[in-house]
Amino acid sequence: MRLCVIGSGYVGLVTAAVFADLGNDVACVDVDEKKIESLNNRIMPIYEPGLEEMVTRNMDEGRVSFSTDVDSGVKGADVIFICVGTPPKDDGETDLSYIESAARTIGERLNGYKIIVNKSTVPVGTGDLVRRVINETKTTDANFDVVSNPEFLREGSAIGDALNPDRVVIGAPTKEVAVKLLELYATLGSPMLITDVESAEIIKYASNSFLATKISFINAIADICEKVGANVNDVAKGMGADKRIGKDFLNAGLGFGGSCFPKDVLSLIHTSGKLGAEFSLLKEVVKINEERVNHFVHRVVDRFPDVGSCTFGVLGLAFKPDTDDMREAKSIDIIKQLTAHGAKIRAFDPVSMDNAAKEMPDITYCDNAYDALTGVDAMIVVTEWREFKLLDMERIKGLMKTPVIFDGRNVYDAGRVRSAGFEYFSIGRG
Ligand code: UDX
Ligand code: UDX
Repeated sequence: MRLCVIGSGYVGLVTAAVFADLGNDVACVDVDEKKIESLNNRIMPIYEPGLEEMVTRNMDEGRVSFSTDVDSGVKGADVIFICVGTPPKDDGETDLSYIESAARTIGERLNGYKIIVNKSTVPVGTGDLVRRVINETKTTDANFDVVSNPEFLREGSAIGDALNPDRVVIGAPTKEVAVKLLELYATLGSPMLITDVESAEIIKYASNSFLATKISFINAIADICEKVGANVNDVAKGMGADKRIGKDFLNAGLGFGGSCFPKDVLSLIHTSGKLGAEFSLLKEVVKINEERVNHFVHRVVDRFPDVGSCTFGVLGLAFKPDTDDMREAKSIDIIKQLTAHGAKIRAFDPVSMDNAAKEMPDITYCDNAYDALTGVDAMIVVTEWREFKLLDMERIKGLMKTPVIFDGRNVYDAGRVRSAGFEYFSIGRG
């Protein structure tokens, strides 16, 4: 099929790469000239395992192209995927201006029947909005249908998630339209759900908000564990063994960040408020999440009352491992709070330091974890990159001024680090 993907961010780029890899002819267009130039030079604008190999191979084989030429992209496609960003406004409402602009772009160029697919995460009712805007802007009598096909990929495992989704959700106005889109996914062999547009839009927000709720729930349990000397990891294991609960997304820590959960939860709260149904449960989910960093920094300050004269070694800056994405990364809040007290920071992250330096230019970026821990008063683990798990603790103890670890992601075995001579603080583990 001839496809056009509008937007080459995390979702658009992965969508374009994967559909090209499945044998389609994909034109990926973006308004950002620099991004397109970089892609045409085979430099990926984001760090995502496996992406570069898949994109360059499909470019070489002529199945995917990148350009700012939205005109040819739209006119030459049978199916158009809208993958532009949907950032939050100050009150949590989703900013749909990029979506509207993409819809206008399509309407002005509608030269024949096309299926327009919303892949961006958008509040219920956006399918209608896109249809209205295209109807208002189109200059021909060409027909079109608008479909909601939310994307569930996670950063860091985006290619694998896109190739092997737990489910493909298609919200379409008719069965015929849904079946047309299903053809694109047929080779994946994944479970498919066909529904109406509104239900598909809600599925995405309900899923992300439910996962965020799981995380806040286990973090609230972690606080209880801390007070009574219990171990939240064992509690999560015991809960997760029940198939009805499931073991995933029960890792207690510093809370959820990233480009999706924080904004999607706020958006659903906003949508339900607008519809007259207060979603107070989700408001608590946000509150618990916001308290995680404060609680963690308090523990650091309790242990180091002279925090202003301390230097901390921060391991991990990205919002989660295997990505260079700094959006809503907990490292930013933690470092800002500590530096506001006057503390100095030495930091290391395997891939996100360039992005982090844009947000936090005044801290010291180091070559590796050992470098970041040299001469520091304490180690602070913010992101659980695999390479931090097996650091040489003896060597680290020799490098640090005082052997203290604040482990925000429960990376280490408490017994092992304590017997290596460290004072160890973790999350919800006594
Ligand atoms: C995606 C989804 O689209 C968003 O709804 C979801 O909640 C998170 O994942 P993401 O891919 O992370 O967003 O967005 P981003 O990395 O900001 O990329 C969006 C791209 O669209 C940018 O490259 C931007 O230049 C491009 N864009 C934006 C256009 O091409 N046209 C526009 O009118 C606006
Ligand atoms: C999420 C959804 O998982 C994905 O389906 C959707 O398409 C986009 O949003 P992503 O934001 O890439 O994906 O990462 P995810 O792995 O879900 O983690 C989100 C945040 O939750 C991270 O900050 C992570 O550290 C945190 N998290 C996750 C926890 O604190 N505990 C957990 O058990 C799991």
